[in-house]
Order: sequence, then C-alpha cells, then structure tokens
Amino acid sequence: MLKRVDLTRDFARHREEYMAAITKVCEETAFSGGRYADRFEEELAGYLGVRAASCVNNGTSALHLAMLALGVGPGDEVIVPANTYIATAWGVSYTGAVPVFTDCTADTWEIDPDGIEAKITPRTKGIIGVHLYGQPFDFARVKEIADRHGLFVVEDCAQAIAAEFEGKKVGGLGDIGCFSFYPGKNLYAFGEGGAVTSNDRAAIDRINVIKNQGCRVRYYHETLGYNYRMEGIQGAVLSVSMKYLEGWTARRQQIGRRYLQEIRNPGIVMQAHPANTTPVFHLFEIETPDPEGLIAYMKEHDVECNRHYPVPCHLQQAYAALGGRKGDCPNAEKLASQCVSLPLFPEMTDEEAEYVIDLCNRY
Ligand SMILES: Cc1ncc(COP(=O)(O)O)c(C=O)c1O
Repeated sequence: MLKRVDLTRDFARHREEYMAAITKVCEETAFSGGRYADRFEEELAGYLGVRAASCVNNGTSALHLAMLALGVGPGDEVIVPANTYIATAWGVSYTGAVPVFTDCTADTWEIDPDGIEAKITPRTKGIIGVHLYGQPFDFARVKEIADRHGLFVVEDCAQAIAAEFEGKKVGGLGDIGCFSFYPGKNLYAFGEGGAVTSNDRAAIDRINVIKNQGCRVRYYHETLGYNYRMEGIQGAVLSVSMKYLEGWTARRQQIGRRYLQEIRNPGIVMQAHPANTTPVFHLFEIETPDPEGLIAYMKEHDVECNRHYPVPCHLQQAYAALGGRKGDCPNAEKLASQCVSLPLFPEMTDEEAEYVIDLCNRY
C-alpha cells in the first residue's frame, strides 16, 4: 500500500544521523529547552530571515502564544479562515477571545481578502491567515486591509515552511509567524514541536517568558505562564532535518507540479497557485464530487488517500455556540464536502507518482 505520507523512508535513510543527535541530548541530559532547542531556534531564524524565533512544544501553543503576545483577550475578535485545521482557531479561543470565521476563495482555497472587511467590528484585533496546504495566502491584500483598520496579521505557517510570497519566505511577513513540526509536516520532529517567529524582538521576548512558566529568572514568575518549552530531543532532531529541508521541498514541488500538469480528469479540480507565490505542497488537495468514492477506488488499487478537512471550523460542534450555519462560508463548505488528499512526500518514487497520476486519470 502506498501511504499518503510515509515517514519510515526518511528514518531508514538518515537513521544513524538522527540517533547520534538523540544520543547526544541524552548524554548531556539537555532534555527540556537547553542548547539543542536554542541551536535550532537560531537555525530556523537564520533560514527564514527573521530577527528572532522561539521554539515551543507544538504549533497550537505557538498560535496561543502569538495571541497572548499581541494582547488578545476576552472581548476581542480575531478573523480566521473557516477552512483550516481547528488549532488555528484554538489559539484565539484559549485567550477568551472569539474567532470570527471567514470564507476562502473558490480557486486558491486560501482566505478570501474580499470577505474580510465585512467581518471587521470594533472588537476585531487582528487576522490570522493560514498558508494552507503549503500555498501562501494573498498576504499583500490581507496586510493592506489590516493596515487600513489597525489590525495585526499573524501567519499560520504550520503547513508552509519554505513557501514564498513575492519571493519572501512565509513566517516573516506578518507580525508573528507560527509553525508546527508535527510528524508529517514538511519539517517534522520525532514527537511534537512548534515555533513562533517575528521581526519584532520584543514580541519574541514576551513569548520566551510566557512559554517558560512566566519567568526569566528561575522561580521568579513575572506573569502568568505556561509550560510550552520545546524538548531538547526535538531541537536536535530538527537540526538534522533542517539540512534536508531544501531537498525535500524541491522534491515535493517536483511531484506537485507533475500532478498539476499530468492529472487531466475533468472530475478532479486542483488548487490554483498564483504566479507571485511559491507553494511547497504540504498536502496535495483536490476537489471531486464523490470524495469517498475516489478514496475507495484508490484503496482498491493500494493507494491511501484521506481528507483535509471534512468539516469547516464554523460548522464544528466545538464552535456550535458561535452560531455558525451552513451557507455562511460556501467555498469552504464545498471544499470540505469534496476534498481528497493524494499521496505526496519527498521520498515517493517517480513510479509511485506516475501510478497516482494514472489512477486519477483512469478514475
Ligand atoms: C494549519 C495548522 N495550524 C495549526 C496546527 C497545529 O499544530 P500542532 O499539531 O503542532 O499543535 C496544525 C497542525 O496540524 C495545522 O495544520
């Protein structure tokens, strides 16, 4: 069975390097935070070209910390796309603020700038744009709207490390960037991991305190804090992976472009990738009228597919109290009802990619 993403191949290829890095952390007992997490923090900031980064325990915490650092709290609203992984909205809700869901465009499936202004109220503090599936959203237009209304822009880069908007890497475009290194992400930890990035050193400084139980000096707590530190083992593993990120990204782009060019089934609609963006194909999502039918057909032919995401945020039970209704975000709802993710990961062979293309064309 060809899996949608198969991490065993990367481990098999780089096993010794990963194990050596983990062993060093164990020998030095640098388990929580510490020099391996710090080193990765510097490597990440350097790679992204941002002034500062703060490594944390996962991407959800990164989003929560971004909201706290920007002063979001009870009574505030933050605009969030309806088609995203739910954690984008959790970051807002954890602070006591309310996520206000907005639709995506019909073709890029990213946050629709045209829908944002209608959602702005006197309580709106900012906008979280998500570079979903590894495809940058229209940052320039979102930023222009945000500036006109005095709002912040946070980038949810969980799926988009190395992606570019107008030649600039995501994560340093807005006020704060939030990353996840959950296994299967384009850069992944051996467990949970995340990071916050910014060109505003003061914001990262606040985050460094909040993520570390609210202290700068051990046992002196200056503010309400959380234990959101990165584990040393994850920092060490991520430093190994970082060396391969460019090659992995290039391979994802090669496979993604082949799918875009060679899948020619009129029943399969693909995401639009505007010319001023460089996507990194974290997920290769398609729309098809009978997603379960396609998934079953692919499974019969030994190919695993799945769906991201079958229910848009505004219709999730967890957010029922916000009163979201069917029809509020029609593009996100259509995508949710028709989406399928095809296999795509750097270690896929050309033959496997061809097999997926061939199956899609014969469906
Ligand atoms: C778009 C998006 N935002 C946030 C997250 C949350 O990251 P994590 O799972 O590391 O908490 C994810 C991860 O799945 C994601 O895909």
